[in-house]
Amino acid sequence: MAVQKSTNITWHSTTVTVEDREQLLNQKGCVVWFTGLSGSGKSTLANAVAHLLHERNHHTYVLDGDNVRHGLNKNLGFSPEDREENIRRVGEVAKLFVDAGTIVMTAFISPYRADRDQARELISDNRFVEVLVDCPIDVCEERDPKGLYKKARAGEIKEFTGISAPYEAPKKPEIVVNTAELSIIESAQKVITFLESTSLVPSKK
Ligand code: ADX
Repeated sequence: MAVQKSTNITWHSTTVTVEDREQLLNQKGCVVWFTGLSGSGKSTLANAVAHLLHERNHHTYVLDGDNVRHGLNKNLGFSPEDREENIRRVGEVAKLFVDAGTIVMTAFISPYRADRDQARELISDNRFVEVLVDCPIDVCEERDPKGLYKKARAGEIKEFTGISAPYEAPKKPEIVVNTAELSIIESAQKVITFLESTSLVPSKK
């Protein structure tokens, strides 16, 4: 739990509101939160969805675990506490993007259910779409795009998700995509269809 150290602070409302921004952009801000094992296809899928939405003139942004850990979260490792803080910050950043009117895709393992639920609470239920990128670990391990499973098996990486650290799958995600069975484009289309069905994104004319 993050400790509140900031004191004597006052909230300032902005002159231009979220509604103003959404009207200008002609879209609603929301978060599509991808969760799953390393190598399950979160980043690829997040980028595929962003691409399809961009082609439809929507403003999107992808927040990716590996990228965010190069900057904002470079001081965090992979202990349960650091992963919690990683996801807490990402939830707060995603909330700012939603306030800016952006459709934001987040691609983080986000292995703990409680941390993802906290992000959902922060952003509000109807603007938070949780996507379980469901892929059997042996398939992720076979893909091993970064060679990390090999290192984890050799004991060179400690606390590796799925090997020596837990992954808690969501119980009721809005969407489940099995990337071992579906192609990237089929998986991305499944996400888009859900966004359309909930009117977060207008249907294609
Ligand atoms: S999370 O668990 O805190 O949500 P995040 O998505 O930001 O993780 O980062 C995961 C990425 O960090 C992986 O895709 C992998 O490239 C790298 N990584 C390095 N060490 C580990 C580890 N011990 N467990 C999982 N991923 C790791």
